[in-house]
Amino acid sequence: MSTNNHKKPPATVVFIFGGSGDLNNRKLTPALHNLFLDGYMPEKFAIAGIGRTEFSDEKFRQHLFQGIQDFSRRKGDPTGQWAEFAQQITYLKLDAGDAEAYSAITDLVKKYEAEWNIHPNVLFYLAVAPQLVPEIATKLGGLNLCKDKNCTRIIVEKPFGHDLESAHALNQLLTGLFNEDQIYRIDHYLGKETVQNILALRFANALFEPIWNRNYIDHIQITNAETVGVEDRGGYYEQSGALRDMVQNHILQLLTMVAMEAPVNFEANEIRNKKVDVLNAIRKITRLDAHEYAVRGQYSEGWMKGKQVKAYRQEKNVNPESPIETFAAVKFYIDNWRWQGVPFYVRTGKYLHEKTTIITIQFKQPPHYAFPIEAAESWRPNRLTISIQPEMDIRLRFQAKRPGQSMTLNPVDMIFSYNDAYNEPQPEAYETLLLDAMIGNATQFMRSDQVEAAWKVIMPIIEAWELRPPVDFPNYSPDSWGPEDAEALIARDGNNWVVLPPLNKD
Ligand code: BG6
Repeated sequence: MSTNNHKKPPATVVFIFGGSGDLNNRKLTPALHNLFLDGYMPEKFAIAGIGRTEFSDEKFRQHLFQGIQDFSRRKGDPTGQWAEFAQQITYLKLDAGDAEAYSAITDLVKKYEAEWNIHPNVLFYLAVAPQLVPEIATKLGGLNLCKDKNCTRIIVEKPFGHDLESAHALNQLLTGLFNEDQIYRIDHYLGKETVQNILALRFANALFEPIWNRNYIDHIQITNAETVGVEDRGGYYEQSGALRDMVQNHILQLLTMVAMEAPVNFEANEIRNKKVDVLNAIRKITRLDAHEYAVRGQYSEGWMKGKQVKAYRQEKNVNPESPIETFAAVKFYIDNWRWQGVPFYVRTGKYLHEKTTIITIQFKQPPHYAFPIEAAESWRPNRLTISIQPEMDIRLRFQAKRPGQSMTLNPVDMIFSYNDAYNEPQPEAYETLLLDAMIGNATQFMRSDQVEAAWKVIMPIIEAWELRPPVDFPNYSPDSWGPEDAEALIARDGNNWVVLPPLNKD
């Protein structure tokens, strides 16, 4: 729930480092374009792509238009407003290492300031390889522009650091150059509609909160499964793996939203304090018992939906003996009053059987069972399933009496489906987050302590895995649900992973 509530941002110049790169092409410019079409862009705005590739303004605009054509939720120029939007786009060729060249940024801002007769806000989006972030941030920090705490902001993409130490160093560097309030660490999952709805479900309804605890909840699961492999990102992925790529950020963020205490208000720091409390309460998994709590996997060659695919170790820019995991499953406990003893199982992986992100809240069994034994052949405990993507729905499973003369019970679902309930198009995560950043609402962005607390949670697992290279990789086939050990991880507690059955649509 972006709290912008239709507020228009003030005049803004958006600088996108990595302007000619993939993220801008696929996500950022399409998002800004959609904000423009929906009337959310400031009255006065400009977008400047920054990169090393040679582009004239016109060629750059054409390149971005192709991105909109290929990747936006609104393809091409449906309302004939592209030309008006494109006029605000320029391109700056700049070598990130060349300190002198940064004056072009200040000059451009001054130009708009004179033209608009107002001092604009400035947003720097660092959509660049992580190793370039310190250098660019340092050079930007030297500009007078960035000393303006109220008007200048910097957005930093993930991965935020490679481990706890490097994340801490990056935080030190950034907070030495900017105020914490100016730094927007992005996790695009926080901009997803269904993710924002977790807080609405929990805290805008009186129904759930009283039972949202260890007295009523048996366990919680988060599954984030992808049907793609690492594609052309082998080089990046070799430095990352599933734990760093997905668990440290997206999955732990989802977990904090499910597990956090009720906020007093929706101020950025209030929400972030409550989330950090959860991360700090996660029981430390020691290196020694990491194998009991965490499972890793790597995909072999095989078939994915009828198409032959390579093993991870055969992918481009991947070491043929790579120990990097493309699948991870972890069992967490949260040591506080609310969650003591409730397991949180999370799993994520590439080339899994289905693309799905779901959160499952499995409730305890009723304390007494009054029905005749034969009534309960298909009896199941209550379960709330929050489906984040691609299905967008919330399902509550409960028992119902099957019609007929005998007392037979079976589980049924009460379903809230976004698509059925609302006609409005869903904004993409980057639209919500870019708008929030322009407005200056940092609620859905990560604070420095949040990022470090999340690294602390997964560091012992990373270290244990690095110390003991895997002996059984590759250990799962494409189109499966990952390695058998992941099934064992949850089965040991008498549970099993939940997958979402398709909705029966007439
Ligand atoms: C990114 C990861 O952060 O999230 C990718 O680097 C992953 O590896 C992607 O594919 C998943 O995002 P989404 O929005 O498609 O679930």
